[in-house]
Amino acid sequence: MTWTVGHGLEGKGIIVTGATGGIGSAVARAFAAAGARVLATDLDEAALGRLVDALDGTGHIAVAADLRVARSRDLLVARARDELGGIHALVSLAAVVRRQYDLGDVTEDDWDAQHDINLKATFFLCRAVGAAMIEAGRGGRIITFTSQAWWTGGYAGSTVYAATKGGIVALSRGLARAYGPHGITVNSVSPGLVRTPMITTNMDPVAFKAMTDQIPLGHLAEPEDLSGVVVFLASDHARYITGATINVSGGMLMY
Ligand SMILES: NC(=O)c1ccc[n+]([C@@H]2O[C@H](COP(=O)([O-])OP(=O)(O)OC[C@H]3O[C@@H](n4cnc5c(N)ncnc54)[C@H](O)[C@@H]3O)[C@@H](O)[C@H]2O)c1
Repeated sequence: MTWTVGHGLEGKGIIVTGATGGIGSAVARAFAAAGARVLATDLDEAALGRLVDALDGTGHIAVAADLRVARSRDLLVARARDELGGIHALVSLAAVVRRQYDLGDVTEDDWDAQHDINLKATFFLCRAVGAAMIEAGRGGRIITFTSQAWWTGGYAGSTVYAATKGGIVALSRGLARAYGPHGITVNSVSPGLVRTPMITTNMDPVAFKAMTDQIPLGHLAEPEDLSGVVVFLASDHARYITGATINVSGGMLMY
C-alpha cells in the first residue's frame, strides 16, 4: 500500500465549517485531494458553490447555513450523515473577530457576537456531530480551531476573541475526555498569523508589525500551511492523538 499523509481518508465524509474562509477553503481542497467527500458549509451560498465545483473528486456538497441557528446545525449533521455516507470528521473553523483597540469600546453585542459563533455554536455543533458518530459506532475525528490568542491573550484589539479561543482549548480537552471511550479524537489547531481576511481586515499597521516581528520564521503562514496538519489529524496516522493543541505559528509561540 502506498504511504500517504491522508491515509484512511479515501471516501470518508468530512464536514468543514468556515469553508469559504481563507483557511477553510484550503482545508476543503486538501481533503478533496486526499480522496475524502466534503460537506462545505459557510454563510455565502454562491461562494460555497464556486468552492465545491472546483474541488477534486466527486460527492462533495455545499450547505449554506448560519451556525448560530440550532436548526441549521442539526440539518447539517443530517445531510452529512445521509449524503456523505457517514461523518468521519468535523473541522470547525467558522469564527469572527471584532477588533476593538480600546477595551472601552467593546459592547455587549461585540461580546455576544464573538462568543455565539466562536464558542457556543462550536460546542453545539461538536455535540451534534459527536452524537451522530456515537450512534454510527465507527469513532471519528473532531478538529477545532483555536489561535495563538488562547495563549497570548490576543493582539491588535482581540481580547474578547482571545477569550473565545481560550474556551475552545478547554472545550476541546473536555470533549476529548468525553468522546475518547467512543473512539472519537478531539484536537485543536492553533495558528499564529495566517494570510486570510481575518488577519487583514481592520488591522492596525503598527500592531501588525509588532506581531510579525515575533515570528522567528519571519513571515505569515499561508492557508495551505494549516491544511496539511488538519488532514494529518483526520488520517489514520493520528489515531492515538487526542486532547492536543497543535501549535502552527512559525515559532511565534514555542510549546
Ligand atoms: N487568520 C489567522 O491569522 C488566524 C489565526 C489564528 C486562528 N485563526 C482561526 O482559524 C479559523 C479560520 O480563520 P480564517 O483566517 O480562515 O478566517 P476567515 O474570516 O477567512 O474565515 C472564517 C469563516 O467563518 C465564517 N462564519 C462566520 N460567522 C459564521 C456563521 N455565523 N455561520 C457560519 N459561518 C460563519 C465566515 O463567513 C468565514 O468564511 C478561525 O477559527 C480563526 O479564529 C485564524
